[in-house]
Amino acid sequence: MMTMIKEAIDVIKKNDRGGFTVPTNRLYPHQWNWDSGFTALGISSLDKSRAWQELVMLINAQWTNGMVPHIIFHEKNPNYFPGPDQWQKNAESQTSCHSQPPVLASIIWQMVSRGTEYDKMKACTLFNSIMAYHRWFFLARDPDKEGCISIIHPWESGRDNCPDWDIGLNNIKIPKNLEQYFRKDTSYVDKLERPTDDHYDRFMTILKYGRDCNWDNVKMHNEGPFLAIDPGVNFILLRANKDLYKLANYLGYTESINEIRNWIKILEQGCQKMWNKDINAFTSFDKRTNTYCDAITNASFLCFYAGVGSNKQKSYMIDHCNRILNNCNYGMPSLDPMHKCFESKRYWRGPIWSIMNYMIAVGLEDINELCLANKIKNDTIQLVKKNGMAEYFDPVTGIGLGGRDFSWTAAIHLELLKDEIDINSKHNFLNNKNVIN
Ligand code: DGY
Repeated sequence: MMTMIKEAIDVIKKNDRGGFTVPTNRLYPHQWNWDSGFTALGISSLDKSRAWQELVMLINAQWTNGMVPHIIFHEKNPNYFPGPDQWQKNAESQTSCHSQPPVLASIIWQMVSRGTEYDKMKACTLFNSIMAYHRWFFLARDPDKEGCISIIHPWESGRDNCPDWDIGLNNIKIPKNLEQYFRKDTSYVDKLERPTDDHYDRFMTILKYGRDCNWDNVKMHNEGPFLAIDPGVNFILLRANKDLYKLANYLGYTESINEIRNWIKILEQGCQKMWNKDINAFTSFDKRTNTYCDAITNASFLCFYAGVGSNKQKSYMIDHCNRILNNCNYGMPSLDPMHKCFESKRYWRGPIWSIMNYMIAVGLEDINELCLANKIKNDTIQLVKKNGMAEYFDPVTGIGLGGRDFSWTAAIHLELLKDEIDINSKHNFLNNKNVIN
């Protein structure tokens, strides 16, 4: 097992660009929001100061309206498309223009609750920024106060091409004047493991709309080409608010407690909107057509992480969880293998993702479903042991897919095995300089 800890450390060091970590070289050569959150969590068992630096670099890019963008372009890099010039006409801001699942408060709470005075001090420097970030979600992504957060682009969910967005994406009219563009991702990764060209045309259509309206949140929400309720973002934000509440109490930010409590109340009620009675599961909801998606995805199982659901709903979700795990060799697939859209190799339409497994397992532990939690954690460790630090894994064969030497896969490996990290590993992380691959 120690061999993989060393390999995980090597991957993270290789991806270190001096204060922030790229998800992987070439395919993702910038800083991504939730990637950095999970990477900080993994690093925190090795070097606290570097872990906090990861979060600080991310939050330094926060917009004045509170949004923490999904990509920070610290430097020019021709390997990635769409770069800064695609997001904004004048590309003044070196960031993308929407967000990603808000895992930061939960990561910070983990780092503080098992940390020292140093971690408390660092958390205090970020607390108000996280408050502003969460406030932004409620203002910009639920302007009509319906109780659920919407996303304006599938990329905002982090689960770009999962079937949750098929209804919304299929309804998008691709404009005749959509500029010709060249994908870079398929130069590094097999096309069959990435979103289709048709999906990319639709992603780029939303991007063009956003750029043309200068990312006006009201316009994007009311008239934009795409609007959906994502179980991932809503469950993650609810968990993040619960963790922020603990953090506020622990650090003494009493003036923020009522506001956070209110956010929790709103989302606890709002998340019920995602209960799809036709299939007895939490699913996404397309706001432009008022239609539920019929797919159970790994984001559906984040209901446990958020602590959402009546006993009856929980019991349905546990049944789905058992059924799905019994239908594949490794869990948790990003899509129910019985669903017609299941593809074991294509990005978020089947493959397993370590970060999702980590959050699902935490949620299952919270409700004392220890067998299921252990099965998912064990699969996450074994997949890496057998197939390395791949971006995602085939739930049928276990084979590694997508980008290689992937930071968050390595980070979750370290997090799951943190009790086995010894002084030599820490020494190895701290002393050897990173070599850019
Ligand atoms: C990509 O480029 O594949 C990303 O998922 C967008 O964030």
